[in-house]
Amino acid sequence: MIISFINQKGGVGKTTLSINVAAYFAKQGHKVLLIDADKQGSTSTWVGLRENTSFQVVSLARANMARDAIKMSMDYTYTIIDGPPHAEEIARSCIVAADFVVLPIEPSGLSTWASDLTVRQIMEARDFKQSLKCGFVVSRKIGKTVIGRDIRDMAASAQIPVLNTEIEQRVAFAESITMGKTIFEWAPNGAAAREIKRLAIEIEQYQDLTKN
Ligand SMILES: Nc1ncnc2c1ncn2[C@@H]1O[C@H](COP(=O)(O)OP(=O)(O)OP(=O)(O)O)[C@@H](O)[C@H]1O
Ligand SMILES: [Mg+2]
Repeated sequence: MIISFINQKGGVGKTTLSINVAAYFAKQGHKVLLIDADKQGSTSTWVGLRENTSFQVVSLARANMARDAIKMSMDYTYTIIDGPPHAEEIARSCIVAADFVVLPIEPSGLSTWASDLTVRQIMEARDFKQSLKCGFVVSRKIGKTVIGRDIRDMAASAQIPVLNTEIEQRVAFAESITMGKTIFEWAPNGAAAREIKRLAIEIEQYQDLTKN
């Protein structure tokens, strides 16, 4: 299964979620590959801070990376792709390669408008790959902010569901990445780790439910 974290908008949590969802699946005993498809190389920088990691990380930030990503993914149970902060050709490749596209979005109107191109790319990709699953995940949610009606409207008109799991703005997420750790190493019993676990399970179950 290939899961791509995509949004042209920068800073919504693509890298944070990619690393930690990969870590969760690896912790469950699965063979996991994390592809850094962002030229900024945040995931690669993070892995460079570590001695060893329970999943494989490769950098593949080329426009036509889809075919290579799919080929590499054959050796793994889960392949996670950390997408770039733009909607150029690499982003399209990340979508095309995926079985499941996760679109992290902050619960504000600004984030909605800035995600428009990515949503359109997903809709286009679905035209020729009907098996493509996708979902928004509310990310960096502050306190009890309600998710904006514009997000619900955009999701409904694009026929992209909003996943039940919401990821809150938590210092532990920022700290752990800065220190080269996964959330399960940094704060295994905290709320942030529980959110990632819930998200990973939701992605897994969603795939199972819609397999046929
Ligand atoms: N849930 C969260 N709580 C607190 N901080 C977060 C959370 N998610 C992300 N961050 C922080 O926000 C910043 C951007 O996050 P991240 O790099 O994961 O986003 P991104 O979408 O990959 O960004 P880019 O588009 O630049 O690749 C980082 O400093 C990260 O530590
Ligand atoms: Mg990133």
